[in-house]
Amino acid sequence: MERAITGVKPTGRLHIGNYFGAILPTLQLSEDYETLIFIADYHALNYIKTAEELKDYSLRLASGYLACGLDPQKIIFFRQSDIPEVFELNWILSNVTPKGLMNRAHAYKAMVEQNEQNSLEKDQNVNMGLYNYPILMSADILLYNTKYVPVGLDQKQHCEIARDIAQIFNNRYGKTFALPEPKIEEDVAVITGLDGRKMSKSYNNTIELFCDEKDLRKSVNKIITDSKLPGEPKDPDCTLAKIYGLFASKEETIAYKDKLKDGLGWGDAKKELFEVMNSFLTPMRDKYNYYMQNPLEVEKILQEGAKKARIIAKKMLNKIRKKIGVNELFNN
Ligand code: TRP
Repeated sequence: MERAITGVKPTGRLHIGNYFGAILPTLQLSEDYETLIFIADYHALNYIKTAEELKDYSLRLASGYLACGLDPQKIIFFRQSDIPEVFELNWILSNVTPKGLMNRAHAYKAMVEQNEQNSLEKDQNVNMGLYNYPILMSADILLYNTKYVPVGLDQKQHCEIARDIAQIFNNRYGKTFALPEPKIEEDVAVITGLDGRKMSKSYNNTIELFCDEKDLRKSVNKIITDSKLPGEPKDPDCTLAKIYGLFASKEETIAYKDKLKDGLGWGDAKKELFEVMNSFLTPMRDKYNYYMQNPLEVEKILQEGAKKARIIAKKMLNKIRKKIGVNELFNN
């Protein structure tokens, strides 16, 4: 089986857009690939500035993926910071990475453009973690000699950088790395948020995946509708119906849309949506709460994952050390 790897930054709480747009498709990968999924806590370090938050988000992310059905027997699930080899490779790769390649990376470029627009010095608020981010991500991918990198479109450029870096290394030291390819799900559904736009933290229109019933009901009540009265026909492609469709069968969704066309009031439509979401989410929420209350169990799972990941990582790093003329490490 070919190998696929993806990392997820612990920078916030999971929402239903993450679930349908990213978590579900990545969990399904393990049917076709040897799959590694890791919590990219050292990538989050650039965004999360307190120890408490980094810890909290990391535990939430791990508990969340487990609650969504990640089976640690089938997927190597670990935390980036538990793999010291990746940071050594990060340094090695820094020495084959042209600075110009980093200048063109979109996160950095966006900061520079924003600064220029605001007549600020071009590198204002840019730290080296942001600037070098793509090198660490390349190390994540290349350390496991991974062919496929399932990511969202926003990470495509980072994967191309990893490929460029692999190529430069291979040219200098001889074929060492497989050339990674981004694997972008073309037909991943765009999940609609509370206001009808794409669900995204930056639009502040998300529905949290594991919030309690009360907050779920509150979120559903916040979904924006038009001002049509009960009895008036509603648009069967409204935001409510779109979200309903994620949680219900095709038949149920058709029935729901028919009722909307027949004049179901928004209040009742929201109640029905809440019910269908809540019964879908309750077992997941229970599991999530279980893991959140048993962090040692989560830790054990992550440690076992790290053990498996490090077997691959150490072997690869030794091969790389030899290629560049540094001693192999035998007894670690
Ligand atoms: N940069 C990715 C993101 O922001 C997370 C990430 C870190 C990643 N390392 C990775 C993704 C390696 C895929 C492979 O979403």
